[in-house]
Amino acid sequence: MADGTDLLDAGERLGHEELRALQLERMRASLRHAYENVPFYRASFDKAGVRPEDCRSLADLAHFPFTTKADLRDNYPYGMFAVPRERVRRLHASSGTTGLPTVVGYTENDLSMWSDMMARSLRAAGARPGDVVHVAYGYGLFTGGLGAHYGAERLGCTVVPASGGMTARQVRLIQDLEPGVIMVTPSYMLTLLDEFERQGVDPRGTSLRVGVFGAEPWTDRMRQEIEERFGIDAVDIYGLSEVIGPGVAQECVETKDGLHVWEDHFYPEIVDPVTGEVLPEGERGELVFTSLTKEAMPVVRYRTRDLSRLLPGTARAFRRMEKVTGRSDDLVILRGVNLFPTQIEEIVLRTPGVAPHFQLRLTREGRLDALTVRAEARAGATPEARDEAARAIAAAVKDGIGVSVGVEIVEPESLERSVGKIRRIVDLREK
Ligand code: DLL
Repeated sequence: MADGTDLLDAGERLGHEELRALQLERMRASLRHAYENVPFYRASFDKAGVRPEDCRSLADLAHFPFTTKADLRDNYPYGMFAVPRERVRRLHASSGTTGLPTVVGYTENDLSMWSDMMARSLRAAGARPGDVVHVAYGYGLFTGGLGAHYGAERLGCTVVPASGGMTARQVRLIQDLEPGVIMVTPSYMLTLLDEFERQGVDPRGTSLRVGVFGAEPWTDRMRQEIEERFGIDAVDIYGLSEVIGPGVAQECVETKDGLHVWEDHFYPEIVDPVTGEVLPEGERGELVFTSLTKEAMPVVRYRTRDLSRLLPGTARAFRRMEKVTGRSDDLVILRGVNLFPTQIEEIVLRTPGVAPHFQLRLTREGRLDALTVRAEARAGATPEARDEAARAIAAAVKDGIGVSVGVEIVEPESLERSVGKIRRIVDLREK
């Protein structure tokens, strides 16, 4: 078929009713699997007075208790596993900024399902069998590298497992091996852009057609910057280790209108972050996921802390989630005003004279918190242009967000560059 629907897999072709029926059947089985095999879930369901068989409709999921990152930490390392350790083929871990890491595990079937979902994601992004795919997500305990790798192989691509770092060599590999697709964090893509320019290589002249960017929040403004500078399509991929890794949801290249959630395997809800109440479709809140088919580590109503909303499907029948513009952990409350780093990104990227590199410094002056936006001047920007940029950023933050911040325009190439997930906030407040 010329419209591309011949490329869809069986799950993507399900009609609405079929999908809901499949979800319910899988949800009931997954709740039973968790309850029967993980002491933590047995205790938490018992405490809430619910049994797996109480889930008679998809809406009944709301009666089941949430699972949080703290629950995973408390059961570190193997306590959340629902199968004997011998059936676990792979482990990944997330370092977590606070204390203990969390470990996640996969059976052979889990790894296969994950590869299928990553292959589906890549296809939606515009990759095709036979493409060369350059993977610059980090390999190792982080799920980005290996997740992307096996998905690209499953789709029938030629994978370049570049991982993160050794930036000069990455530019060389892209020129020599001629990938059509790159998978990398958006912030590391900007580091690669600097390196192209340093080497005097035209970033628009490469073989790249598509970039699959995720693992951190990024704005449509950043999409525009990357698309223009590289001459590619830039699409968003979302996921988290606790749910599987990358490949939970993916933006389709033909619409670029948010990410379709692969909800035949990962059931999404949006809840009020404070009350936990389930919110209707279209309302903004915290994303919560229940795995429907995972064996090694099923998750029931896992609180992601990521803020988004659910919308009806467009390019696919699955529901979409709006681009995640912030997680509750990154929320800065400045003199009563809520601010996310992505709001600053939006402003910095549209300001002439500054490069797309910035950092947010939090300090305390007396009893008040203060925020300084440190943005990098573009090479060649005059002192007047820098002053003008500082004024423009401060004014845009004041007008758009409603709070006064300091702005410092720093020398080109002086801010630390990302090799993976970027850290935007530097908190210098005394605890
Ligand atoms: O970052 C998995 C991943 C790898 C996704 C590569 C996409 C590409 P974790 O290290 O467990 O897993 O971190 C998960 O990263 O809860 C979000 O806060 C954030 N995140 C992931 N993708 C996006 C995205 C991987 N597209 C946490 N937009 C999640 C915004 C994202 N935030």
